[in-house]
Amino acid sequence: MGVGFITTRDALRGSDGDRVRLRGWVYRKRDLGNKVFIVLRDSEGILQCVADKGSKAFQEAQRATIESSIIVEGVLRSDPRAPGGKEVSLDSLTIVGLADDFPIKGGESVDYLLDVRHLWLRSRALTQVMRIRSTVLKALRDYFTSNGWWEVSPPILTQSAVEGGATLFAVDFFGKRAYLSQSAQFYLEVMIFSLEKVWSLTPSFRAERSRTRRHLYEYWHLEAEAAWMDMHDMMKVVEGLVKEAVRRVLDERLEELSFLKRKTEPLEATLSASFPEVTYDEAIEILRRKGFNIKWGDDIGADEERALTEDQQTPFFLTMFPKHLKSFYMKVDDSRPDVVLGFDLEAPEGYGEVVGGSQREDRYDMLYKRIIENNLRPEDYQWYLDLRKYGSVPHSGFGLGVDRLVMWIAGLDHIRDSIPFPRLRERIYP
Ligand code: 4AD
Ligand code: MG
Repeated sequence: MGVGFITTRDALRGSDGDRVRLRGWVYRKRDLGNKVFIVLRDSEGILQCVADKGSKAFQEAQRATIESSIIVEGVLRSDPRAPGGKEVSLDSLTIVGLADDFPIKGGESVDYLLDVRHLWLRSRALTQVMRIRSTVLKALRDYFTSNGWWEVSPPILTQSAVEGGATLFAVDFFGKRAYLSQSAQFYLEVMIFSLEKVWSLTPSFRAERSRTRRHLYEYWHLEAEAAWMDMHDMMKVVEGLVKEAVRRVLDERLEELSFLKRKTEPLEATLSASFPEVTYDEAIEILRRKGFNIKWGDDIGADEERALTEDQQTPFFLTMFPKHLKSFYMKVDDSRPDVVLGFDLEAPEGYGEVVGGSQREDRYDMLYKRIIENNLRPEDYQWYLDLRKYGSVPHSGFGLGVDRLVMWIAGLDHIRDSIPFPRLRERIYP
């Protein structure tokens, strides 16, 4: 079926007089009576086509409605008024699927557009984001695959919380309670005892209390875990990974960034920077200088993160948190028993956390103590504790929110537009 078709992108690179055949959807249409202009949309872009009265294409062009799928044939010619400088003078136009009156005409509200998400995904803006997202995903996978990491497949239906009970979604598992995974971390920790360096890409679920621009209830979580690595070794991995994603988007998706009016300076700066480390202690100092009424031990929340990142051009690590702010599995610092060896990667320009990671507590007694301190039940973590009994090893890992990374790279205002089918509080649709 594909024989002889070219894309709109190929056509824009063609020469005057070339005979071309394309297929796609009617993006815009203007009927002047003696000619019909149709802007054809495909996955690569748009191309203006014109059917003159008297041509075989004219009647069908008149009949074609917005978003009808069509096949066109004609001759390419330069026209400075056409988008991209080229148009096709049509010999024939075949309607494959005639569209009903398309319910999106421009100027609709965000709510309405979410109701018709299955159709709104055809919009040019979302198309650019989805192309960027695909390139980010490929870069992330390639980074691991070409650096000797093993991909593993952890479960989604789980028994216990990784990141605290407050954001767990419970499901009924044949009369028993099970939960949707918040993080594959504990399963990845199991796998390092055989494979040493492992990663996975899975959906994670969080029943977040508050609605924000950067929280989804279901998001895509890229996680990695490695034996023998301390937190700084693992921070190097995060830096390499994020740079690879940025590099690939700059190499391959510049047109998409420009369509979205994304400034590329911060992305270029990110490639040449080495990501600095700012300790929690230093962050508290910076925030106090910025006028925040904050003291050691307080949480660094969304407002604080925005203040720390909005004047930055490149990502940086926030590290060494008070242990009561972080999860029980983070390793306690030997020299400061109230601090853990944790790190977050903060995206600049106000975006904030995109990665959370740490060195893991690898001492059985200390981990047991931390479970009790956090009012958790050791019996729920028996298999996790077991890992510290049979050949425990220093190890570290992290989780990266793919949707947040895409949001920052593409410069989006809201995380919902980084993913095709966002799960939002008001709706699970489509
Ligand atoms: O910081 P978090 O909660 O860390 C963990 O889950 C670790 N167990 C991961 C690990 O070490 N294997 O989540 C990791 C990242 C965050 O930095 C953020 O980018 C993303 O996951 N994230 C969310 N993204 C979208 N919507 C949400 N509700 C998110 N919650 C976390
Ligand atoms: Mg976190």
